Formats: sequence, structure tokens, C-alpha cells
Amino acid sequence: MKDVNALLLALATDKEVREDPYPIYREFRNLGSVVRANDNFGVATDYESATQVLRRPEFRKSPEREDARRSTVSSLRRQDLPPSMLFQDPPNHTRLRRSVAQFFLPTKLETLRGKLRGIALKLFEELRDANKSDLISSFALPLPVWVIGDILGVPPEDRFTLQPDVSKIAKTLDFNFNQDESVLREAEASSDRLIAYFEELIAEKISSPRDDLLSELVSNSASLDAPLSNKESCSMAMLLFAAGFETTGNLIGNATAALCGTPREYERLLSGDVTIKEAVDELVRFDSPVQLDGRVLEREIDLLGVTLPQGFFVATLLGSANRDDSVYQDPDDLVLSRTGPAAMSFGSGAHFCLGSYLAKMELGVYLELIRELRMPISIEDYHRKESLTLRGFERMIISV
Ligand code: HEM
Repeated sequence: MKDVNALLLALATDKEVREDPYPIYREFRNLGSVVRANDNFGVATDYESATQVLRRPEFRKSPEREDARRSTVSSLRRQDLPPSMLFQDPPNHTRLRRSVAQFFLPTKLETLRGKLRGIALKLFEELRDANKSDLISSFALPLPVWVIGDILGVPPEDRFTLQPDVSKIAKTLDFNFNQDESVLREAEASSDRLIAYFEELIAEKISSPRDDLLSELVSNSASLDAPLSNKESCSMAMLLFAAGFETTGNLIGNATAALCGTPREYERLLSGDVTIKEAVDELVRFDSPVQLDGRVLEREIDLLGVTLPQGFFVATLLGSANRDDSVYQDPDDLVLSRTGPAAMSFGSGAHFCLGSYLAKMELGVYLELIRELRMPISIEDYHRKESLTLRGFERMIISV
């Protein structure tokens, strides 16, 4: 049995492992629920340990201690912008989250379903008419970019020019021992462009508010006990825009690969043998677009029988938790009618994904259209993204 450091090295560097990390996740789980790699770093390998790390208050996002801080935040630290809510802890995290949570409530998002279906149908018909095309650039990315742009109030003509910058920044979130210096430089330039863009857009929303999230955020801000500064609104806008499509685009690609890889289950989707909700929940579990997360300890604790010191960083293997056979029967099989606990794909605890309902709605509409239009998709060629943390496809040539 390989030791944890050999497994971590393979996870961070081995192309084949990153193409399919699920076999190595089983090796991690065989080593234990909580495995220390050294005095500062360890992994939570299964459902129970990942849940505890994401839920227990002793685990933080941005600890006081600088050395622990360095290992948590993306290597792209901006001095000119407050860290986004994703990297903050209560009480400020609670304040920031409260300022936008209402826009992502199911009742609010359900008012968008008709429009979302309209956009998806148009993109789908273009796919069908093209007969052979890249699913990622023709559907999986344009749909969530359009939708989150609409929610935020980003003018339609700007939405797709901003998308490549977000993808460059997303690369810095990867669990990778060989992070290329050029990746960081490119991400910094992209982040400059996005900050400049959203600062201007926030100023515009203040002077001429519209019926959208950013306008309400800056105008509501006044009614909040602690109003958001313009820089906080800018940081929030960047997070919501980026989180709104980079992940969902990956989910649609991963789900298509999973369905095409399991014809029996694909047939069950087409025949209506399973509900769209069941199919969505299982596809989110089976190959999640977010594979890793992490927290730092504020003080020494015992975690499932393992003592961990203050400042210790624990990486949570969400993809492994979703394949934990103590929770899911035959976890490596795609079973669209599967029942069982919610997958860890959207995290857990205070930072539970704000957009989970939206992401599931977008995947659900995609599956509905596959069923209604009886679309037998086949994958001709694909290129997987290098990133492990944000798992998905760069390109997926399909024929319909
Ligand atoms: C399939 C798609 C998605 C997946 C797998 C996903 C996954 C996650 C995960 C794992 C977290 C928790 C991060 C942590 O605890 O450190 C998170 C947080 C978040 N997600 Fe998503 N997400 C998805 C789609 C979306 C969408 C569509 C939005 C829309 C805006 C969104 C917005 C957010 C935000 C704002 C947070 C931070 C919440 C906080 O810090 O309180 N996500 N997401």
C-alpha cells in the first residue's frame, strides 16, 4: 500500500491519475478517514471526515496565522480588493452572504426557468443543426454564462468577453505542485481586467440602477446594518460571475461523458424511467466539477481519533467522499435512480454552495431537452482540463 505522500504526489502531478482520480481516491480511503501527510498538512478522504471538516467551527478559511494563510488561499492574492466571501470566515462571511442569499433562493430562481429553457433550447437546436460541434463552447459554457450574467446585470455583449479571463483565474485554484509561473502572471492580468470592469459596472449600477442583483446589492447596501463597500460589491460580483459558470460548464460536460459512458442509464433517461431530479442528483455525485476543498485549524482538535494541531491544513477530497462505499452502494457505478445522502459536490456548512439550486436547474433543463428531443449524443473526441480541483473538459466534440 502506497503511503499518503506518494498518493498526494501522484494526485498533484500524474496526468493519468488526474484524468481518472477515482481509483487513487480508494487508496486514500484505505489509509483512513483522516490521514496526516506531515506536521502541517493532511487529507480528509471520506464522507464523514469531509463533512466534519467543512462543518466544524474550529476549521476556518482564513486563519490568523500567516503560514497557514499561505496554504489556503489561491496563489492569487490581491492587495487592492478584499478577499471574496469564499475565503472569509464568520462574522464577516455571514454579513456578506446575507447580502446576496435572497437572489439564490429556489422561489426566486424558479422565476427564471422559462427564460433559461428558452436560451437552452436555442443553443440545443443550433447543436442539433450543426450535427457535430464542441458541446463545451456551444452549450455547456454559453448557457450558465448567459444566466449568471442575466442575474447579475452584466450587459449581454460583455458576458462572453469576460469568460476567458475567469477561466485563466480558475487555473490558480488547482491542486498542483508544478504551478507554472506564467499561469499566475496571466491570471493576475485577467484579474486586473475583471476588477476594472466590475468597478466600472458597480459605479454604473449606482448611477443608473436596473432590475438586477448588482443594482439591488449597491442600493440595498444602504439598508444593511453594515453596508458593503464598493470594493466588497466588486469582489462579490467577480465571485458570483466566476462561480456561476466555470463549475456548471464543467458539470454539463462531466454529465454528458458519464451518460455516454453508461448507455443503459442514458436509455433510462430517454425513456423516462427516472425523474430529472434523480438523474441530476446522481450526475452531480458521480463526477463532480469541484473535487477538492480545504480548511485550516484554529486550534488543536481530535478528528475521528486523529489529533491535529493548530494551523494544520486539511484538504477535503470531495470527489472521494462522493465515492465512499460506506455511504453509497457500488459507488463507482452510475445509477440514475440512486437514493442516498446528498453528494459533497456543493460542499457543506457555512460555505455550502450558494448556487447549488441554480446549477441543478441548469443541468436539469439540459437533461429535459435531451429527453424531449430524444437526443442520442455520442462523443467523437475530447480534451480534459488539466485542473483537478475544477474538473471538466476543455473541449468535447459531439455528434447528435
Ligand atoms: C455544479 C456547479 C457547482 C458546484 C459543483 C459548486 C461547488 C461549490 C462548492 C464546493 C462550494 C463551497 C466552497 C467552500 O466551502 O470552500 C461553493 C461555494 C460557492 N458557490 Fe458553488 N458550485 C457550483 C455552481 C455554482 C453556481 C452556479 C453559483 C452561482 C453563483 C455558485 C456560487 C457559489 C458561491 C457564491 C459560493 C461561496 C459561498 C460562500 O462562501 O458562502 N456555485 N460552490
